[in-house]
Amino acid sequence: MKVASVVGARPNFVKLAPLSRAVRDRFHEVIVHTGQHYDYEMDRIFFDEIGIPEPDHHLGVGSGSHGRQTGEMLARIEDVLMKEGPDAVVVFGDTNTTLAGALAAAKLHITLVHVEAGLRSYDRRMPEEINRVLVDHCSDLLSCPTKTAVDNLRREGIVEGVYLTGDVMVDAMDLCRDISRRSTILERLELRPKEYILATLHRAENTDDNERLREIIGAFEDIGSSLVFPCHPRTERRLRDLGLWNSLNERIKVIKPVGYLDMLQLERNALRILTDSGGVQKEAYIFRVPCVTLRDRTEWVETVKDGWNVLAGASRESIVRYARGFVPSTPQTHVFGDGEASRRIADLMESFMRSSRDFSGERVKAP
Ligand code: UD1
Ligand code: UDP
Repeated sequence: MKVASVVGARPNFVKLAPLSRAVRDRFHEVIVHTGQHYDYEMDRIFFDEIGIPEPDHHLGVGSGSHGRQTGEMLARIEDVLMKEGPDAVVVFGDTNTTLAGALAAAKLHITLVHVEAGLRSYDRRMPEEINRVLVDHCSDLLSCPTKTAVDNLRREGIVEGVYLTGDVMVDAMDLCRDISRRSTILERLELRPKEYILATLHRAENTDDNERLREIIGAFEDIGSSLVFPCHPRTERRLRDLGLWNSLNERIKVIKPVGYLDMLQLERNALRILTDSGGVQKEAYIFRVPCVTLRDRTEWVETVKDGWNVLAGASRESIVRYARGFVPSTPQTHVFGDGEASRRIADLMESFMRSSRDFSGERVKAP
């Protein structure tokens, strides 16, 4: 049986790395890369460093408005799926690539698997929230990383095909744990373990709102400790537009986005992490590094409930206060997974796909 994995943006690549291995143990996999991300540091570095197989189809869509980008991807993914005729399509997370892959598969009646299903921030202004809701509602197999995700789906009436598998990002971290310890990023940046703060920032609600962006950058400058800031190209562009790029305080080490191995090394050795990323909040928790989230809400509510993550929004004063003094005082009670999520998803796909074939081997409508 053939499986098409659709990816295109940085977090999709990280999730694909472990799943692709499990999928290839059982199926013929083709990888479809939409080209949503394309800079070396946002794209190729993940394939080169963590052994993701080469994409079979590169659609070269690139950047654009949400409608144009998603529409271009939808049309091109549809062409590929019609040519390849896969038995299932896998999509990851909540990006525009995820939505386009899901719509293309659903409309061609191909079994759709959503990895990282059921996450909700309950903020419909976030483009990711729209993507998650739509993708979940047209998926056949939904792999939930947490019990909260399963409950969120149930509240929307989605119960068929929903499985608590654990989080493939735990599998990705396991896959790269040892090799990432060999990263020389600390030496290259002249950093000492637990003597710097790591920051990432790229969400539309922060970068496209001048006031929020100024507050957050102002906080980065006020913190006073050494702060490492691998800067997403979207954020760099906005900071240049606002004339803030060249005047950043010298205690902020602004660097290009880093590869996953360097990122894991930076995360595990950070004193604290400031971020608006979904994946980085989880990684901070797993590494037991206190996290200050630069958003008003989060989908990863377990990290906040456990007291290892605080929501500072875009308030300069709160960000500075937490960045200087936030110390979790409660034990971690939550696990995002046991490192077996990818194998579990591949097993589920296998039984699901077998059960949706009739006796003559022809595919029938998914249950
Ligand atoms: C996307 C996802 C977001 C995810 C993030 C991960 C959507 C709606 N958003 O946001 O959920 O957290 O990826 O990083 O899918 N750009 C470059 N080079 C690149 C990629 C982007 O310069 O390789 C710049 C372009 O100016 C582009 C902008 O970044 O317009 C935004 O890129 P886009 O892919 O639309 O969204 P992200 O902000 O990356
Ligand atoms: N990441 C990385 N280099 C960076 C920033 C992030 O390798 O410079 C990794 C990070 O460790 C995580 C994933 O990219 O595994 C998260 O992607 P991102 O923050 O872009 O998106 P989100 O998770 O918010 O959708």
